Amino acid sequence: MADPIIAPKPQLARRAHIASLEQYQQIYAASVRDPRGFWRECAARVDWFHPFERTFRQDFANAEVSWFLGGKLNAAHNCVDRWLHDRAEQTALIWVGDEPGTYRHISFHELHENVGRLANVLRAHGVQKGDRVCIYLPMIPEAAYAMLACARIGAVHSVVFAGFSAESLRDRIVDADCRVVLTANEGLRGGKVIPLKATVDAALEGTAVTTVLVKRRTDTAVPMRAGRDLDYDEQVQRQRAYCPIEWMDSEDPLFVLYTSGSTGRPKGQLHTTGGYLVYASYTHEIVFDWHRGDVHFCAADVGWITGHSYIVYGPLCNGATTVMFESTPVYPDARRYWQVVDDVQASIFYTAPTALRALVRFGDEPVRTSSRASLRVLGSVGEPINPEIWRWYHDVVGEGRCAVVDTWWQTETGGILISPLPGATPCKPGSATFPLPGVRPVLVDEHGRELTGNDVTGNLCLVGSWPGQARTILNDHERFRQTYFTTYPGRYFTGDGCRRDADGYYWITGRVDDVLNVSGHRLGTAEVESALVAHDYCAEAAVVGCPHDVKGTGIYCFVIRGKAAEGHDDAEVEDVLRQQVRDAIGAIATPDRIQLVSGLPKTRSGKIMRRILRKVAESRYDELGDISTLAEPAVVEEIVAGHKTWAK
Ligand code: PRX
Repeated sequence: MADPIIAPKPQLARRAHIASLEQYQQIYAASVRDPRGFWRECAARVDWFHPFERTFRQDFANAEVSWFLGGKLNAAHNCVDRWLHDRAEQTALIWVGDEPGTYRHISFHELHENVGRLANVLRAHGVQKGDRVCIYLPMIPEAAYAMLACARIGAVHSVVFAGFSAESLRDRIVDADCRVVLTANEGLRGGKVIPLKATVDAALEGTAVTTVLVKRRTDTAVPMRAGRDLDYDEQVQRQRAYCPIEWMDSEDPLFVLYTSGSTGRPKGQLHTTGGYLVYASYTHEIVFDWHRGDVHFCAADVGWITGHSYIVYGPLCNGATTVMFESTPVYPDARRYWQVVDDVQASIFYTAPTALRALVRFGDEPVRTSSRASLRVLGSVGEPINPEIWRWYHDVVGEGRCAVVDTWWQTETGGILISPLPGATPCKPGSATFPLPGVRPVLVDEHGRELTGNDVTGNLCLVGSWPGQARTILNDHERFRQTYFTTYPGRYFTGDGCRRDADGYYWITGRVDDVLNVSGHRLGTAEVESALVAHDYCAEAAVVGCPHDVKGTGIYCFVIRGKAAEGHDDAEVEDVLRQQVRDAIGAIATPDRIQLVSGLPKTRSGKIMRRILRKVAESRYDELGDISTLAEPAVVEEIVAGHKTWAK
């Protein structure tokens, strides 16, 4: 049966930046015919202190790309100062606090002052151009101030999601050699208190950090270490609001953001100034069909790339009003998102399918209590959106009058690459549809042969660079090259599988490597495994994904007990190991299931057969394939039996 097609809404097309499929196709064709011309023109959307001389240079064999060469600009200038002449009193940021009804409107003028003061504080504490600064803050305006203050003085921010553990935080601080950390005494989310400063204290043992700026989010007094820890408010009050701008080269780093890969520890993806900013602002405008006056509500956390590109840099670089949401979709109840939409009159709403799946369980009623009349565009990001959820988003949340944009992209891509456009693209629920202008996806088979034509399935690669592409992995360019540019030489390999259907629509099928997508967050199975084996209750571990109703993918761990676990009952061992993973990585990595086993399926050369474990975790016992080559085929029976008792 052919997939149903949902046509773009005429009332959206009428005023859209890209207003029909034909117009999109024309722009797309022109963009790939003459990428230099296309991107040169596109780059005019940002303010350049000094114009660039060359549009881009690309050498995928050496994993080297550069954009807008010779140009000088500043990201904070573009996101803040640039708007002072005509919208100083317009709200730049609407902060939505955890407690319902808590709102703060921050104008561009106030944003300018807050960013300037903080930038001066950083300078006063020795932060210079090129230095890395760690931001471990909850979703409060200071997180945006901190990012922009770094950008203003040319420091490179490294935002660490405030749900990560002390150990994860330390790894990131050490890897990026940060000397300054910004944090809060505590965070507040869904009515729960998160002891951020205590986590920072634990993380800093043995690091080179000299200065910690502590914002008071709650009334709790926390211990402050003399000579290192400083009160944020006291510090900013001492500084003047004006801070001179550091003009940056297009290719000077803007930020580093850590993300999981299939092996080793998370890697710091480095994004640079000119290309990233042009790309974030361009995609924000066309994908969400943003127009001046629209309130943009992206419900992500600034600790992820979605927050970087579509809460802070993209919207602010367009002079938009952007929303920062501190709470959760279900606090105090499942009406929260829609209440906020009404209160701030959001035109655009952007979230992950996992949040929608959690909300669907409460039925339509919590949605229907709100008006949502301000909404025009509903975005989805981070994981495949099931067609049923897509429909619910479209029919119930959007009442059939809003566009749904399923946006595919990655930390490495800096911005959205494949997505419908609200006024132009006929949608198929579950498909991210077509590439944005200037983006050239290709599908390849396992031998690297390009699959041309339609109705094909393969691994998703990109030929040709785009301005938002990450430039390197901090301190490890060789790893960057190997991870993304050697599997299919001449192409950037995304790690995702994808189908292009008979009509040329792209359907992302999920990761083809050992990366899990848990509630839209990326986790390497290797990371969870090393967390487990670090505990002496665990001798050996193999981690795979399992289907999960809300998270999309859950974390399934097969564990062989360590000697120290002998004599302890199963439930206790499982609890200890579950806690171990939370402590090592953070709550997002909490295993959904730990199955204690006496052995793991291995080849005779000792390699764990993950393929088999994946099938077991998915309850696909009939698809285990040939197990006769295993060193001990009998363990499979035991593993299957153990899984069945849980999956019942
Ligand atoms: O597997 C894809 C999935 O999320 C991965 C990127 O994760 P991360 O770098 O954390 O960035 C998430 C936010 C951009 C991708 O490799 N993914 C992201 N968006 C989609 C998606 N899978 C399917 N559909 C999407 N719209």
